[in-house]
Amino acid sequence: MNIDPHKFCVAPMMGYTDLHFRYLLRLISKPPILYTEMVTANAILHNENKKINKLEHNNEHPLGFQIGGDNEIQFEECAKIIESYGYDEININVGCPSKRAKSGNFGACLFTDPKKVANLSKCLIENFSKTVSIKTRLGVDNEDSYEHLVDFISKVSDSGVKIFHLHARKALLTGLNPRKNRSIPAINYDRVYKLKQDFPHLKIIINGEISNIDKIKEHLTHVDGVMIGREVCNNPFILHEIERSLDPSIMKINKEDVLQTYFLYIRNNIKYNQKITDFTKHLAPFFKGKIGSKHTRAVLCHELNYVSNPIDKLEELINEEVVWETDGQDLSTRVM
Ligand SMILES: Cc1cc2nc3c(=O)[nH]c(=O)nc-3n(C[C@H](O)[C@H](O)[C@H](O)COP(=O)(O)O)c2cc1C
Repeated sequence: MNIDPHKFCVAPMMGYTDLHFRYLLRLISKPPILYTEMVTANAILHNENKKINKLEHNNEHPLGFQIGGDNEIQFEECAKIIESYGYDEININVGCPSKRAKSGNFGACLFTDPKKVANLSKCLIENFSKTVSIKTRLGVDNEDSYEHLVDFISKVSDSGVKIFHLHARKALLTGLNPRKNRSIPAINYDRVYKLKQDFPHLKIIINGEISNIDKIKEHLTHVDGVMIGREVCNNPFILHEIERSLDPSIMKINKEDVLQTYFLYIRNNIKYNQKITDFTKHLAPFFKGKIGSKHTRAVLCHELNYVSNPIDKLEELINEEVVWETDGQDLSTRVM
């Protein structure tokens, strides 16, 4: 059974959905489209981040690249660069509420200027041969009526965009930091369902606080797909559970096999001068609720950088049976 890549997909998340996490997720589940962290048009053009080239990937298709910016000329150039790296989709960020986004006029503040977003989309569509999509909120500050949302979707879809990811709450650009903007104000799924009814020809993907299979199944009766963020960071194996719930013929995978393949990946890819914790921090959720998980987490996220044979130390740690025993506690380290 072929599962549509947008039926369940992984949200772009800064600090999480990097090259290594995506590699790990792809070991767990093949169908969902994964997205990069947001990269600004300026950073793409100047390739500022020398530590990791954020355009690099491991052929982990289907894979979307998320861009932030507000300049049409830059977008034309970026589309060509992203095309040359072989991405399957470009997603425009119209949801980021950070101060940096606000001062750079990108992210959520673009919601109030649908014509601009339509023009940016057009620049991408004309210079990128595959899909262009938008990730947005239900509104921004006081521009939060359903009519505003319909106006935004109408104008942007007229430019040729057919896929919209809706984080089902509005963004508040003053008084709330990005983290609080992920839980305030209350989520409004009904508005996204209504949008799908009013735009049946568009692919509407719902996002926000989706964390279990029953809810996913319920959403899929209303919209075309679900996008999951924090729950994937806290429990990457949810992707496998979702896949099996949609297609029970999929063979079960086990954590040990995933870990062994990921170890090999670390061995083959770690470069001189690179922190091993860039790779191992993504393994911390495997140990949530297990004995000594806080200690295990400290090792995976920090201490391994300071030992002489970190990969051997890592394997030693993982092979200690006790780290796999459940204590039913320590759920304190969830991504919020
Ligand atoms: C740590 C973190 C970083 C995020 N970075 C981005 C980002 O780069 N681009 C983006 O569109 N959304 C970003 N988001 C928002 C998520 O994509 C998603 O919309 C939000 O977390 C709600 O989904 P969830 O409740 O399933 O996590 C981020 C969220 C988190 C938790």
